[in-house]
Amino acid sequence: MSTGVIGIGRALPEKILTNFDLEKMVDTNDEWIRTRTGIEERRIADDNTNTSDIGYEAAKKAIENANISAEDIDLILVATVTPDQPFPSVACMLQERLGAKKAAALDISAACAGFMYGMVTAKQFIDNNVYKYVLVVGVEKLSKITNWEDRNTAVLFGDGAGAAVLGKVTEGRGILSFELGADGTGGKHLYQDDFIQMNGREVFKFAVRQMGESSENVLEKAGLSKEDVDFLIPHQANIRIMEASRQRLNLPEEKLSKTVHKYGNTSAASIPISLVEEVEAGKIKDDDVIVLVGFGGGLTWGAIALRWGK
Ligand code: UT7
Repeated sequence: MSTGVIGIGRALPEKILTNFDLEKMVDTNDEWIRTRTGIEERRIADDNTNTSDIGYEAAKKAIENANISAEDIDLILVATVTPDQPFPSVACMLQERLGAKKAAALDISAACAGFMYGMVTAKQFIDNNVYKYVLVVGVEKLSKITNWEDRNTAVLFGDGAGAAVLGKVTEGRGILSFELGADGTGGKHLYQDDFIQMNGREVFKFAVRQMGESSENVLEKAGLSKEDVDFLIPHQANIRIMEASRQRLNLPEEKLSKTVHKYGNTSAASIPISLVEEVEAGKIKDDDVIVLVGFGGGLTWGAIALRWGK
């Protein structure tokens, strides 16, 4: 047996903020946002909905989808940079609301690469037979740390959550290989003081280089070639960065997962949200090889080669 994904779920706030809405808020326009980022609209949570509320919805669906009960979960890992408050963690809040009585719980701070860090951490516990089921949630309410007067960042981000239950799957399926990394010297390019601050061009260059390298590295570690890849699910930050990753793997357009146009950049939530959408659309089938790859503030990065199916 190896470790893989046995259940998935996602949650998105209902309220849509379009590029045209943003035109009325800052000095920007739909054409610039679409051509430079690929984003057309994003979801924004209302004032009464916090990070844990969005995360809870996604987690509940993932547990149902895994066909287990919350009481079966051994560990909850929540990847987020927008917790409701510094402590208690979002993971502990979910533990209570889900009724996951025996689960240990902690948040992971690795920005947009957080879900990759969560999945890889979960794998260690399951591989070693320490835990049977680990719930990993990527969730953000970035709207609460976005400066709505700064056009450089206000157009990019959105709120949402994606979740996965990890457990044992058939040998040969599941996580085949992974890579995690960090470079604290680049921390100054993407950080939060009161709001998100970003040197877009520097992050862009880093992202293109790192996503390409990490994707190739996990394929090599898994003994796979680029031709073996059925689907690429990159962090949904900017369509131009995602396209560069697709081209680096020589993949046709239909093998690139794209949700950035609908949801913008949802940080730790973007990869699991996209995974859920592709699976629900029937585009990912059992035994397909998927490369998941993310990068973010820290700077951090992470990639996983995954063979889909239980
Ligand atoms: O999850 C990780 C988070 N971050 C990222 O992934 C971000 C990575 N970086 C990017 O996606 C891109 O760098 C951006 C989308 C942020 C910016 O695109 P760019 O092609 O690198 O544009 P730029 O920063 O070089 O700016 C080009 C021009 C500038 O005007 P000037 O100086 O050439 O006159 C900006 O002031 O576009 C201007 N600009 C805007 N114009 C209209 C910047 N933001 C906007 C805007 N609307 N929202």
